[in-house]
Amino acid sequence: MERFARLAAQCLNTVLESPVQWSDLEIPPEPNLGDFAFPCFKLAKQLKKAPPQISKALLEQIQAKGTLPVGLEARTVGPYLNFTVAPQLVLQSLLGDILAGENRGRYGSLAPESRGTWVLEYSSPNVAKPLNIYHLRPTALGAALDRIGRYRGYRVISINHLGDWGKQYGMLTVAFRIFGKTIDSQLSMLDLVDLYVKVNALAENDPKIEEEAKEAFLRLEKGDPEIVALWQKCVEISLREFDRNYARLGVRFDHIWGESHYKNHLTPLIDDLKTRGILVQSEGAWIVPVTDETGQELPPCLLQKSDGATIYATRDVAAALYRYEKFHFDRMTYIVGAEQKLHFKQVFGVLRKMDQKWVDRCEHVAFGLYRFKDAKMSTRKGNFVTLDEVLLQAKERVHGLMIDRQKDSPAGETAPETAPKTVTDSAQSLEAISEAVAVGAVVFHDLHTDPARDVEFDLERVVDFEGETGPYLQYAHTRCLSILRKAHQTGQAGAKIVFQPALTTHLTTEVELQLVKTLGQFPIHLERTLEFSKASQLAHYLIEMTRLFGAFYRECQVLGQASEITQARLMLVEATRRVLGQGLELLGIPLPEKM
Ligand code: ARG
Repeated sequence: MERFARLAAQCLNTVLESPVQWSDLEIPPEPNLGDFAFPCFKLAKQLKKAPPQISKALLEQIQAKGTLPVGLEARTVGPYLNFTVAPQLVLQSLLGDILAGENRGRYGSLAPESRGTWVLEYSSPNVAKPLNIYHLRPTALGAALDRIGRYRGYRVISINHLGDWGKQYGMLTVAFRIFGKTIDSQLSMLDLVDLYVKVNALAENDPKIEEEAKEAFLRLEKGDPEIVALWQKCVEISLREFDRNYARLGVRFDHIWGESHYKNHLTPLIDDLKTRGILVQSEGAWIVPVTDETGQELPPCLLQKSDGATIYATRDVAAALYRYEKFHFDRMTYIVGAEQKLHFKQVFGVLRKMDQKWVDRCEHVAFGLYRFKDAKMSTRKGNFVTLDEVLLQAKERVHGLMIDRQKDSPAGETAPETAPKTVTDSAQSLEAISEAVAVGAVVFHDLHTDPARDVEFDLERVVDFEGETGPYLQYAHTRCLSILRKAHQTGQAGAKIVFQPALTTHLTTEVELQLVKTLGQFPIHLERTLEFSKASQLAHYLIEMTRLFGAFYRECQVLGQASEITQARLMLVEATRRVLGQGLELLGIPLPEKM
């Protein structure tokens, strides 16, 4: 739809003194009011006229000049000047773009690396702890922005900033000694957690342990081979575990550069800051007095403790400098919990003090927590519910629902076209579908919640096949597939749906037109998703599209109509399949073929 908005803006600019952008146009609340609305309020002061008068005058000028493009209609609606695109123009050009556009099958995509460089940091869990459900937030959102960014032509560089450095690894090495573990012990992630919990419990009554841990971390920072080897082992065990989760979610990174990646940059950084007088001493520690972007004073940023150890913030300053040096990014986004807002303000404050002008290109996208309806889970505090557990529960529930559906459905509805060869075959595919639906449900639920808000998690609602859920959208997608399959099997369509412009005249109902217009908004919603770093923007749009598709499906019989009508409607089903499927894929929602 964007191209029509551009035409409307161009037309307006033939009569306006200060030009408007297409994105300045609004979308009227009711489709029958038009496709775009130009609000005249802003001109009222300048022209000293009431907005409805202005809108009328603008319309008259446009008519007098004859600058209204063919296919566009303009009329006044109170204080607005509204534009409507002729239905045939909408249908032909949008279906053409979707089904036969230049970017073939990737509607709304832009040429790879045709835009700027975007460093996107996400996931970033801490080593030696299993991924908990809370980590799904930065992981799912980051991965979605990563895919959409690339789709829209950015050169995205994704980084997983693992928490793999700090005093807690000193503590773990102490645990190895106390509990008699060695580098050769067979250990899993859970063993690491167990060791960490046990050693911390001991430390509560024995201050010497804390001392030993501090010292061990200092030795780690200095590169003591024995400590380094133990640390390396913890990182390996954790990464294996994280990778298993990432594979399940379809997430991959360009770089896994944890905090330790910057360990050799820390001393030179501290020395440089000291020489430049940016780092000052305070009670034995070294700090930088900082302000935010408006000049407001913040608590100072601690970069070196009195024992000489560096901290989390030191690594972040070093990481930002390194990334800029390497990539000269146009934008850098950190997807990290809201509890770290001050931390990022301080880090950006240090960079500003260092006169790194590009600090203005850095942003922290903060996200909220998980809250569980299930009392058993909520009393354990969000932090102790692992991602594995949530996916397992979701999967069990989906599995149950699928079995019920198969029992309920009249023969042939959801049953596979070709009978499964063996029982294991069908059990396997049920297993694969349950996995895809469970992952889709949990990921979609997370993403459709505004990042800044908490995710309210109610398992029953999350995996529901109706409502604003992942399975609802996945199901609509399988429905498109099954219509297309059936059309082919019954000889009503070829193996591929080809765009035939002349057939669009057979799409005459309101719901068909609305569906096509909605599909045509895909690029705009992708762009807004990137602009605000909110996958919820795309998620809500896909829900709306699916609702319209449902209405179309109920109102317009596709198969078995007069041939042109069936052909025309099949083009619409194919266009929906492509856009919905693409949107879901970008969000990281798996697409089962049947449900
Ligand atoms: N590892 C940290 C945590 O789990 C998040 C890291 C965020 N990124 C950063 N550059 N500080 O809390």
